[in-house]
Amino acid sequence: MRLDHATWPEVDTYLQRSRGIIVPAGSTEQHGPMGLIGTDALCAETIAGAAADSVDAFVAPTLAYTPAPFNMAFPGTISVSEESFESLVADIVDALLQQGFESVYFLNGHGANLQPLRRVFSRFPGAALRLRSWWDFESVNDLRRRYYGEWEGMHATPSEIAITQVRHRVVEPGAADEPPRKLSRDYIDAHSGDRHGAPEQHRQQFPDGRVGSHSALATPDQGAAILEAAISAVASDYSQFLARAE
Ligand code: NI
Repeated sequence: MRLDHATWPEVDTYLQRSRGIIVPAGSTEQHGPMGLIGTDALCAETIAGAAADSVDAFVAPTLAYTPAPFNMAFPGTISVSEESFESLVADIVDALLQQGFESVYFLNGHGANLQPLRRVFSRFPGAALRLRSWWDFESVNDLRRRYYGEWEGMHATPSEIAITQVRHRVVEPGAADEPPRKLSRDYIDAHSGDRHGAPEQHRQQFPDGRVGSHSALATPDQGAAILEAAISAVASDYSQFLARAE
């Protein structure tokens, strides 16, 4: 259930049977020539929403304005500073706790959110907070490996694009039908968590916005299978998180 589609008496009743909530976190940034600007937010929101429905939980409005400084040289990217993001998330956690929510589960879809979110968590020692990215789960990774192998890459990945193809939009690949430059193991190790360079340099290095990801391999059927795996993994991880908090 979406919190923003509920009434306050419904939230009041919910809090008598559960103290948990899921908060999706994504980004607003370029995702290559065929990936939607909202890809990360849409993936996290879709998975979190369906997982929440399956376990009778509330899902909070998506955190879509987040840090993505390296993509600012591409039109459509809206990056906020880590400082602003952390301060906003800390206020949100604080408000949720004040309202009586006790277990806050963040479902992430954007690598650059991880460090800031962990720093926010450290401001609430003792609170039941959990952070997962939708690709953390083995069942999801099996599919990513099986469908795309090394072409999953790092940004504008076929898996995330396939997910948005299910419920949002399919964009024709055009020139992105050609595979991107393949990344070295060293590059991948040095840049995990979206530790990329300055905007102009990043665009120069990856002119069409794909970072080692062959986005055009995505299909809606694969997206549906990845979604199903992610939804069930998140639902069971969330239930386990709540059980631990009780
Ligand atoms: Ni992404």
